[in-house]
Amino acid sequence: MSVDVSFFSGAAMRPHLPALAVLRSQVFRDWPYLYDGAPDTERVYLSELAQSPRAGMAVAFADGVAVGCSTCLPLADAGAAVLAPFIARGLDPAAYFYFGESVLLPAWRGQGIGVAFFAAREAHARLVSDASFACFCAVERAADDKLRPADALPLDAFWRKRGYAHDPGLACSMAWKQVDTADKVTHRLSFWLKRLR
Ligand SMILES: CC(C)(COP(=O)(O)OP(=O)(O)OC[C@H]1O[C@@H](n2cnc3c(N)ncnc32)[C@H](O)[C@@H]1OP(=O)(O)O)[C@@H](O)C(=O)NCCC(=O)NCCS
Repeated sequence: MSVDVSFFSGAAMRPHLPALAVLRSQVFRDWPYLYDGAPDTERVYLSELAQSPRAGMAVAFADGVAVGCSTCLPLADAGAAVLAPFIARGLDPAAYFYFGESVLLPAWRGQGIGVAFFAAREAHARLVSDASFACFCAVERAADDKLRPADALPLDAFWRKRGYAHDPGLACSMAWKQVDTADKVTHRLSFWLKRLR
């Protein structure tokens, strides 16, 4: 079965936000996020996207069914937690376009969809903003974390190949309930950046 990647922005994203919420809670249950999706957290996040007129979203469809999603929005429209390290470093949020998650069901991985997600979001950021950089953040996990699956592959090589460089000192905090915890756990997520122009 072939997969088509389509891109939506602004109000056109709205019909696809429920699929994004489902895919986030499915894909992020796995390492390294171990996210026990909560409807309230999803609602806040989805409303940030819906309220940002220049937000965009790539959706991978297999036979009309969404099997992957990837989002982006101007950093200035992202949540306070994401903005905080940029403000603390005296960086201008307008110079950055923030890439949210890429979530793709495992059965569809390894056929270039993740690459297409980056290309579509970078093209969108260049089209709708003057941002100099694309940025995203990823959770940090200890090398000896006992929950790490033996066959877990870090995505660092994938991101470097897309042209992103890690800035470990630029990091935000987010808390979520994990699949293995009763309460929320606070995590450090550090940023990766790429010059767009
Ligand atoms: C990130 C994700 C969307 C990548 O999707 P994908 O469609 O499998 O990636 P692609 O097929 O486009 O990969 C393209 C290239 O990256 C390589 N690659 C993919 N995953 C990789 C990994 N974990 N480590 C190293 N290289 C990797 C592929 O081998 C391929 O290399 P090539 O260009 O030399 O052929 C997918 O792995 C995913 O949903 N992961 C779980 C959620 C997640 O962690 N998201 C990122 C944080 S939000």
